Order: sequence, then C-alpha cells, then structure tokens
Amino acid sequence: MKILLFLNILVTFLTALTSVAEDASKKEKNGADSWPSHYHKGRKTFDGIGKYYMGREISFVMGHQAIRWLERSNREDEEAPSKAIAALNLKEADVIADIGAGSGYYTFRLAPLVPKGKVVAVDIQPEMIAFLETKEKKLGLTNVEAHLGTVDNTRLKPGSIDAALMVDAYHEFSHPREMMESIYKALRPGGRVILLEYRAEDPTVPIKPLHKMSVAQSRKEMEVVGLKWKSTDSTLLPWQHFMIFEKPAKK
Ligand SMILES: C[S@@+](CC[C@H](N)C(=O)[O-])C[C@H]1O[C@@H](n2cnc3c(N)ncnc32)[C@H](O)[C@@H]1O
Repeated sequence: MKILLFLNILVTFLTALTSVAEDASKKEKNGADSWPSHYHKGRKTFDGIGKYYMGREISFVMGHQAIRWLERSNREDEEAPSKAIAALNLKEADVIADIGAGSGYYTFRLAPLVPKGKVVAVDIQPEMIAFLETKEKKLGLTNVEAHLGTVDNTRLKPGSIDAALMVDAYHEFSHPREMMESIYKALRPGGRVILLEYRAEDPTVPIKPLHKMSVAQSRKEMEVVGLKWKSTDSTLLPWQHFMIFEKPAKK
C-alpha cells in the first residue's frame, strides 16, 4: 500500500516537472536571442532549461501538481523544517516574504510567529496562489497574503519587507538576476535574505544535481546584486544549507 502511494506521488511529481519544463524550455528557447548578457544558452540537460547563469544551468519549475510532495508527511523527518524556522529568529512584527512559497509549507508555519506582522507568500503559479488562499481561510489566519509575482519580478513594494525566505526555490527561478534585484529593492535596509538550498557539495543528499546549490555558487549569485553574506550553516539541516545575507543599511 505504502509502495503504491509512493509510486503515485512519484509519478505525479515527475509529470508536474515535465509539463512545466516543456513549457519553460519552449518559452526560453524562443526568447534566447533577447536575453541580457548575464545569461547564455547552453546544452539543455535532463532537468534543466538550457539557460545558464554565472556558470549554472537553471532547473525547471516544479508544477503545482507536486503539491502533495511538498506537503508530504515525512518532510519534517527528511528536512527538519522546524529547525530552519526556529533559526530564522523572527520578531512578532516582522514582515517576511516566502518567495516561491508553493503550497505554503513554510508560510503557514511562519504565520503564528509574526502575529503583529505578516507572511507574504509569493509564487508565479496561479494554482499555488489559489491553494494558499483556500488554506489561509481554512486555518482562519489573517496575516498571510498570497501574492502573484512574475518570473522576473516579485511585484513587492520597495522597502516593504524585513526578510525574504527562499526554500528550494531559487535554483528554479528562470530570471535569477532580475528576481534578486527585485527582492533587494523590496527589502528594507538591514533586511535579510535567507536561502535554503540542497547541498551540492554532498553526494549523499538524494536530490538531482540541478536542484542543489553549492555555498560558493550561492554566495556569488547573492553578492552580485549587492547583498552581504552573513553566515552559512551546513549542519543545522539534514539536506540543505542555511544561508543568511543582508541588504546593507546604507549603500
Ligand atoms: C520546489 S517549490 C518549493 C515550494 C516551497 N518553498 C517549499 O519549500 O515547500 C518552488 C516554487 O517556486 C516557485 N517559483 C518558481 N519561479 C518563481 C519566481 N520567479 N517567483 C516566485 N516563485 C517562483 C514555483 O512556482 C514553485 O511553487
């Protein structure tokens, strides 16, 4: 029974990846001639879109069909998200944006920690936004704001957030430079970016290569937009790096 459920979830997950991947790949191929010079076209590997940024092939976007995988009951055992949430050290009035929120696995666990602030759950898939809105109503929460962004813009107001959290999402942004510039603008001076990515340096982490990032690559891509690296903890979580960057108080 358990095996059947696992296979069902696996098939749903792979179908989700494939459909979104085909779409993204077609769109990116058509627009390749007009890409800004920080991107270049290269060999498209199995789970990539053939678009390269700072030496890394961008992975395709996980489709909303994979919500069940994001919400899997053993996620706490595998990834220890509760440890990551505790390490965020949020204040009750903080406004935190969960960028690439998906089904809101993190969003809904963050909301009770910021009763005088809010969580802005940003995603580009309308189906994820609908899921977030339905779940917020069901849970009776009032401090979650589901927010539809675009592939290259969070559409958050300048200086409107204290922190931006990205969990297993950044590596699939098709326009990482523009997204980070948009996040940088949305942060208040002194605001933080918290980046969680599967550890590329660790072959025992059971995730495909393009869905992982190394510390060196992550730092390069965050620092290029003006963020300052503050800390990296690669032992807090079983599979992910926990990295913190800061927007300087004065630039
Ligand atoms: C692998 S899921 C992770 C979801 C969630 N952070 C979690 O850990 O459960 C990545 C999410 O990032 C979203 N995404 C991809 N590109 C995005 C972008 N440019 N802006 C906002 N969200 C994006 C996808 O739609 C997807 O829901």
